[in-house]
Amino acid sequence: MPPTTPLTTMTQDELKALVGRAALAYVEPGQIIGVGTGSTVNCFIDALATMRDRIAGAVSSSEASTQRLRAHGIRVFDANDVDELAVYIDGADEIDPRGYMIKGGGAALTREKIVAAMARRFVCIADQSKWVETLGRFPLPVEVIPMAARRLMRQFAALGGEARLRLRDGAPLVTDNGQHVLDVHGLRIDDPLAFESMVNDWPGVVTVGVFAHQRAHVCLLGTPEGVRTIA
Ligand code: 5RP
Repeated sequence: MPPTTPLTTMTQDELKALVGRAALAYVEPGQIIGVGTGSTVNCFIDALATMRDRIAGAVSSSEASTQRLRAHGIRVFDANDVDELAVYIDGADEIDPRGYMIKGGGAALTREKIVAAMARRFVCIADQSKWVETLGRFPLPVEVIPMAARRLMRQFAALGGEARLRLRDGAPLVTDNGQHVLDVHGLRIDDPLAFESMVNDWPGVVTVGVFAHQRAHVCLLGTPEGVRTIA
């Protein structure tokens, strides 16, 4: 038998692969699965490929996940052709003990929130570095209509946050929806439900990366001791 990697020496990538595989326990034969975006979800998609003949397909939250699903031969459904999903599986940039999250590090937050809203259960897969008591250490992604960016930066400054336009290769990053992303540093989000509702109401905000109304119902947290299931 080849030696297996002791859990105590597992890297962050190995922890992501661990929770990606663990999420298969939430996939039932015949289902259409809601699939998120990011490096942890990539591990899940690779694991899902091992049972592609037993699922109906997926609804995807980004062009990147769609490509990866299709490369594995997994059918991708348009969200408009599906009424409801039993489960949505996605990563997070931060998750707290109530299942409230910050998401959008991969700029896919709007479609992620849409697919999460279609699902009866949100299963979050994350390595232990994502676990926090209070949201806000990770800069909060907010997808915005470009013409509103400056005004929104001032609104976040009034809350004590510093909003920076996300760049890629020196130019503003453009999301799958053709919009821009602000990353807001220096916030402490004590009441995620109220904060999400407040920012959603600001003109020009497409989606705020606080997922409180679409919280995780289950978190599979990769730790050196193995996968912790927090429900
Ligand atoms: C993408 C996301 C991701 O779920 C989040 O950024 C975590 O990504 P990773 O698994 O690569 O750490 O919200 O918009």
